[in-house]
Amino acid sequence: MKPLIILNFKVYEESSGRRGVNLARKLSSIRTKGYDVILAPTLPTLSEISHKVKLPVFSQHADPVGLGAHTGQVSVDELKKIGVRGVILNHSERKIPFSTLKKTVELCKKNRLVTVICASSLSEIRKVAHLQPQYVCYEPKELIGGKVSVTEARPNIIVKAVDIVRQASPRTLVLCGAGIHSKADLGLALMLGAHGVMIGHAVPKAANPKKFLQEMLL
Ligand code: G3P
Repeated sequence: MKPLIILNFKVYEESSGRRGVNLARKLSSIRTKGYDVILAPTLPTLSEISHKVKLPVFSQHADPVGLGAHTGQVSVDELKKIGVRGVILNHSERKIPFSTLKKTVELCKKNRLVTVICASSLSEIRKVAHLQPQYVCYEPKELIGGKVSVTEARPNIIVKAVDIVRQASPRTLVLCGAGIHSKADLGLALMLGAHGVMIGHAVPKAANPKKFLQEMLL
């Protein structure tokens, strides 16, 4: 399995609406033999990007509901119908109560959607790993959006996270995120035992996002 790079578009000006669709199109022409690249666009652009762009698309969130009378909810069943391949759950910017998280993971598994559960501490990593998602992503909240990467600031925690997850759920892989912005950050994450990274601001905010990502993945 190739290392995974998830590009979380969040709701930045540069990655939302038409700009988000154009960004996804540009990024989709990237050449990467060594990595699997996944886009996590804004929710309103998810369907369009999943239909127009070749790269697999994950949702930034999901609610544990099927199709029906659920106003304002992100239905797992609808995500599946529009071609979404996976979901990011419990991101620091979109926390989910544990009982809801559990139901959502179960529904995603039933729908064969890949689950990435975020956690910001070792105790949370341990707790969410027991839900046996495909990925647990360690992201220390205080480093998100900053210039110092998780790999520079918390290398030991990444190693511990890999160990904890291996014990709690041997098939679950670990990702890490927060401040990832260079080839060195990515290389170090893999060296520390992570299976990939989740990147936020660095790509959409780059002067040339495609070139930036291409250089990072060379
Ligand atoms: O999901 C990715 C994330 O929260 C990290 O954001 O901007 O620090 O790369 P950023």
